[in-house]
Amino acid sequence: MNDYFQEAEELRRQIRHHDHLYYIDATPEISDQDYDKLYHALLDLEAAHPEVVTPDSPTQRMHGGVAEGFETVEHTVPMLSLENTYNADDLARFHESVLRGLHGETPTYVVEPKIDGISIAVRYENGVLTQAVTRGNGKQGDDVTANIKTIPSVPLRLRCDNPPAFFEARGECYLPRAGFAKLNAHRLAQGEEPFANARNATAGSVKLLDSNEVATRPLDILFYTQGLIDGVEIRSQRELFETFQRFGLKIQKWSKVVHDFQGIKDAIAELDALRKDMPYDTDGAVIKVDEFRQREILGMTAKAPCWAKAFKYEPERAATKLNAITIQVGRTGVLAPVAELTPVFLSGSTISRATLHNEDEIARKDIRIGDTVLIEKAGEVIPAVVKVLLEKRPEEAVPYDLPGALKGVCPSCGGPIHRDPQFAAWRCENLQCPAQNVRRVEYFTARNALDIESVGGVVAEALCDTGLIKEPLDLFDLTQDELASLNLGTAEEPRVFGPKNAAKVLAALDAARGKDLGHWLEAMGIPEVGAATAFQLGRIHKDLHDVADSEYLKAFLDLMDYQNGLAPSRVKEAQPAQDLFAEKLPVGLDTLVPPLKRAGLIKMSGARGGYVTTTVGPKTAQSVLDFFRGPIGQRWLERMRKLGINPLGDNAGSAETANGPLAGKTFVLTGTLTTMGRDEASARIRALGGTAAGAVSKKTTYLVAGANTGATKTAKAQELGVEVIDEETFLRMIQP
Ligand code: IVH
Repeated sequence: MNDYFQEAEELRRQIRHHDHLYYIDATPEISDQDYDKLYHALLDLEAAHPEVVTPDSPTQRMHGGVAEGFETVEHTVPMLSLENTYNADDLARFHESVLRGLHGETPTYVVEPKIDGISIAVRYENGVLTQAVTRGNGKQGDDVTANIKTIPSVPLRLRCDNPPAFFEARGECYLPRAGFAKLNAHRLAQGEEPFANARNATAGSVKLLDSNEVATRPLDILFYTQGLIDGVEIRSQRELFETFQRFGLKIQKWSKVVHDFQGIKDAIAELDALRKDMPYDTDGAVIKVDEFRQREILGMTAKAPCWAKAFKYEPERAATKLNAITIQVGRTGVLAPVAELTPVFLSGSTISRATLHNEDEIARKDIRIGDTVLIEKAGEVIPAVVKVLLEKRPEEAVPYDLPGALKGVCPSCGGPIHRDPQFAAWRCENLQCPAQNVRRVEYFTARNALDIESVGGVVAEALCDTGLIKEPLDLFDLTQDELASLNLGTAEEPRVFGPKNAAKVLAALDAARGKDLGHWLEAMGIPEVGAATAFQLGRIHKDLHDVADSEYLKAFLDLMDYQNGLAPSRVKEAQPAQDLFAEKLPVGLDTLVPPLKRAGLIKMSGARGGYVTTTVGPKTAQSVLDFFRGPIGQRWLERMRKLGINPLGDNAGSAETANGPLAGKTFVLTGTLTTMGRDEASARIRALGGTAAGAVSKKTTYLVAGANTGATKTAKAQELGVEVIDEETFLRMIQP
């Protein structure tokens, strides 16, 4: 151990101390600037002497990088759920069953708020955070360690001198209401779809593949139960809370110890009054027998413990008048009816619109214009109409006739509409419908897709309205002048987009040309293809043509047919097979399966020895192939060819680029590059035949170190003897 190590250890101790004061106790003692000084002192020291970095150093929260997927992890003990109760009778039965089970012993209960998030197990080995796992199916979950480490209130090391050998704390990961509102506002501003509620946003955030992105989401965890524990004795819920606090693990501020049924009911009522002001969403109370010894006696069923129950509160509702029903045209042409309401305040915000879903839903609830309706926001951001208050129905109100209101045409373009009897939704069939065009352009430019800065809803609408563009790829034909003079205001009060914004858009479009296949596939808005699928498809294909006629997807569909006892026909119909699957079906499973397994499209099913799908299902696979065979997909391919855009996937190295100058070389990027973004750099590497990887391994040829480089990757590179190069050297390598 040297002086540097001691110096680093002292800085770490101070930073942890201040983290605890700030994130757990909410009583900071130093200013943000002073904290930053400490943090940067540690960063500098660790960068200069990578050997002093420890895995639990506060600087290691952000070093997860981009993952390809999540490993499945067994739970130490099953992660159970709770049975719900909705009224006092259910609760009384629970209390009686506890009394019966305990044969005359009297229980003490702890009543806690039920947090509406997702449960997470966090494991500490000898005091150091080693793994974080989602609930999954209760027996196995996903390893989301890198993501959970970015949550500042979660200690990377337990706050105690003699940590237990193993300690698994379990709790609820959530987005505080304020953080959630900010996240959604940001998404809207970027032209992205907002999350329906904080819980969905949390689940989505914890499952992001890029932990740097996770770090921008204000997630938090409150702990309330335990998994496997070795090395510390805990006998009750109360002792568990004390232990959590001692270890620096955050717990809820409010909980109540009660001794009888009246006590339970009072605590539930007290909590109901308080929970509206809590900084996070709660949807109930959890009632737990305090003593672990008594819990053992009471036991559990297959799914839930017999010593605890959840009590669900009624979601908040409000009555208001439905003044009109308008129709919104979505990206895929779906015509969605929306209730226009007299504004009313409900669960923290003013509501003036609610979704009515579709024609059948309106009929089922017999919703009429002029009705007073009950709306509900069960933790949802988009409120729904629960039911009509019939006693307030005006005499003249008539049943709502959606087809009649539509008069057979799309309210935006006047084009033909159609309702597939199978589906409840009416659709506008006109692929040139301006409303659809606007939505598609918005989707194309969203941050998750091609990230074309400043083309959000308003600009997309103006561009479509003025006829400057009709479809997303038209953006690439826009000139600086056309963009600069775009009027975002009205004829009377013009508001031009301006040259500065125009230049920004053109630069972003230029960058989009270099984005990888995954981003492009997402941007194209192929039915059934969301972010995860697009990413997966981008990973296993060479380029767009390779996806359009994907041997992988065809073989995958054949395998699924084969497993379902159907004659696998698709490969036989297809063009002569290319390099990947030289033989046609019927081929042995031994030829069909290995490439699909390597591509991650299938994995062995634990139970029956067959193969199950992973991210991409058969419906999605079929939809992708159909899309590119159809006129829309063909048009995309044709136009992209003319525009000279050929986004490359991670599998590009195996094709035309196999003889490129970087063939056989694997690059890992770390830190910030000054001349280009990471996506662009990765695309350039792939285009030249190289591989761009996320983490340093034995296979890595070069670690490209940009500015503000983290210490872990550099240390790993040194350990493995991987050559570290700077940006300048890298630029020389990728020069055309
Ligand atoms: S205790 C063995 N306490 O609710 C049961 N759960 O419906 C351990 N939850 O899966 C759970 N707040 O995700 C417990 N204070 C709380 C909770 C809580 C939220 C969640 C948890 C659980 C689900 C059960």
